[in-house]
Amino acid sequence: MSREKRVFKPSAEFASQANLGSMAAYKRLYTESVNSPEKFWEKQAKELLVWRRQFKKVLKWKAPHAEWFGGGALNVCENCVDRHLKTERANKAALIFEGEPGDVRTVTYKQLYFHTSRLAHVFENMGIGQGDRVAIYMPMVPEAVFAMLACARVGAIHTVVFGGFSAESLKDRINDCGAKLVITADGSWRRGKIVPLKQTVDAAIEKTPTVQTVLVLRRCGNDIKMRDGRDVWWHDAWLGAPNHHKPKAFPSEHPLFILYTSGSTGKPKGVLHTSAGYLLGAKLSSQYVFDLKEDDLYFCSADIGWITGHSYVVYGLLSNGATVFLYEGAPNQPGPDRFWQMIDRHGITIFYTAPTAIRAFMRWGDNYVLSHHLKSLRLLGSVGEPINPEAWMWYYRMIGKKKCPIVDTWWQTETGSIMITPLPGATPCKPGSATLPFFGISPKVVDDKGKEVPKGSGGKLIIDKPWPSMLRTLWGDDERFKNTYFSEYPGVYFTGDGARQDKDGYFWIVGRIDDVLNISGHRLGTAEVESALVAHPKVAEAAAIGRPDELKGQSLVVFVTLKAGNEPNDDLKEELRNHVGKEIGAIAKPDVVRFAAALPKTRSGKIMRRILKEIAAGKEVKGDTTTLEDFAVVAALQADD
Ligand code: WTA
Repeated sequence: MSREKRVFKPSAEFASQANLGSMAAYKRLYTESVNSPEKFWEKQAKELLVWRRQFKKVLKWKAPHAEWFGGGALNVCENCVDRHLKTERANKAALIFEGEPGDVRTVTYKQLYFHTSRLAHVFENMGIGQGDRVAIYMPMVPEAVFAMLACARVGAIHTVVFGGFSAESLKDRINDCGAKLVITADGSWRRGKIVPLKQTVDAAIEKTPTVQTVLVLRRCGNDIKMRDGRDVWWHDAWLGAPNHHKPKAFPSEHPLFILYTSGSTGKPKGVLHTSAGYLLGAKLSSQYVFDLKEDDLYFCSADIGWITGHSYVVYGLLSNGATVFLYEGAPNQPGPDRFWQMIDRHGITIFYTAPTAIRAFMRWGDNYVLSHHLKSLRLLGSVGEPINPEAWMWYYRMIGKKKCPIVDTWWQTETGSIMITPLPGATPCKPGSATLPFFGISPKVVDDKGKEVPKGSGGKLIIDKPWPSMLRTLWGDDERFKNTYFSEYPGVYFTGDGARQDKDGYFWIVGRIDDVLNISGHRLGTAEVESALVAHPKVAEAAAIGRPDELKGQSLVVFVTLKAGNEPNDDLKEELRNHVGKEIGAIAKPDVVRFAAALPKTRSGKIMRRILKEIAAGKEVKGDTTTLEDFAVVAALQADD
């Protein structure tokens, strides 16, 4: 990547219609925004959000705790739905949905209002209100969006759990936040089959004392068990509810959602986002990064179970009154051109996806793309992992036909909204670089002491000023919040990523430098995988590492030592893969299981992952091995290769 010299400027045609059309305008606004951040954010908050009570203080910052827009009150659902009803958008499509089997539905803003209002009544009748936690384990259907918005409407805190997570993972998340209500569906369509969501919920809530009610949407019509007194059909509850619901105002810092994400140690952590600041970050960035126009049809392929789905399917887009396209299923069902079919069928104008998906499309072959014209597209986006220049070029040529700018957006679950990104009408792009910071965001590349490194040198990526959509804490564990993000450099947010800035100030993200893996754009902690493995009765020790992978960015390789008396064979490899899938979810199934007689360790007993990474990548083990306890272990592992 460091050798990448190509530069792609926005076309004059794109720039002339863009929400922000020149580098001079970007630089002026950016400089203003970081020189006087409070003034900048105050103006944005007043212009972009509907307030019920004006805020008094823009920011109270006592690192690492931020209070944004103190004294203010608003309702996030009202900001995403009700506010559009008084405008020409009332009968505009908010959502256009296509199910995997091909069913299509459109939900206008007015309908979105009725759905969220009725659901808000349903919640209140169930005793769900301000501050209660609600777990959402749903397919990518409009009702999932209604559920999130209705939580916001009544002040309940949602935690969306990706439908690919196992019962075990769902149970842990429900228990960690103490959810009272779980919202799910009988099933979800995926590659022509039904994913039995309700069945997984049933297994999860055997051990969740806080859950009182399960609200079940009928999606696939598969047979499920409904338990009397606990399980309620969505359509039954919904029928009797009134159409109108008056939303209450909640304080700016009222929690909006908890989203669990992997960290470098222990169990996933519950990242907490609050109302006003989060919404402002999502809304402002959507408007500029996606250059939103009234007649756009926007498609983000991320599931709402991830932060990308929260900020750039739901909150950022609907608060802007955009039309969002939702797709339920797999990208290659019935064939590898499903996305291109849908782009042409619906006239999608903005498409936002992950590098892993782009690399899969490349592998499936150009013919699947070339049989569709894709004329409606005008802007492309990438998120979730570094995009390699080859994939960038393919995306640019094959999908964007050299006329669509590509926004490579760097951000995290914790940051809430996009932090480093091109602005499509202004920023010249370099394939593989997320380019420059967004307004009000102050990222720096620093050395171990926190000193900025010279341009061109690598270092750790930090953000040294607070921003409105930053996480506020980790649910129930403020200590871990401080230790994880604000202890490496006291008082400054540490991202966990390595990066480099080139001579033009462009950021090149190298990837995680902690023990977090990025597999197909999904975060996975090595510690989670290891603890799942050692929970298996035959496993003594385990080490999980990422190996560079052409398609997935990283693939998951695990080294396992067995308890005495167990035979290392292929059946056991498969058994261990399935075991991890059952403990965490299919996305965590190791690609490779390797048995070892022993794992390389330091004298103090820490597993030396660096050495395992070199072995897994087929490299010669180099560098400092003086702290290694026993070199024979490495020799044995290499001989095994
Ligand atoms: C990585 C996803 C390079 C990074 C929004 C980060 C990226 C982690 C990019 C967060 C990008 C995300 N270029 N790397 N454009 N976007 N990452 O929390 O390592 O699922 O720390 O948020 O993904 O993943 P998360």
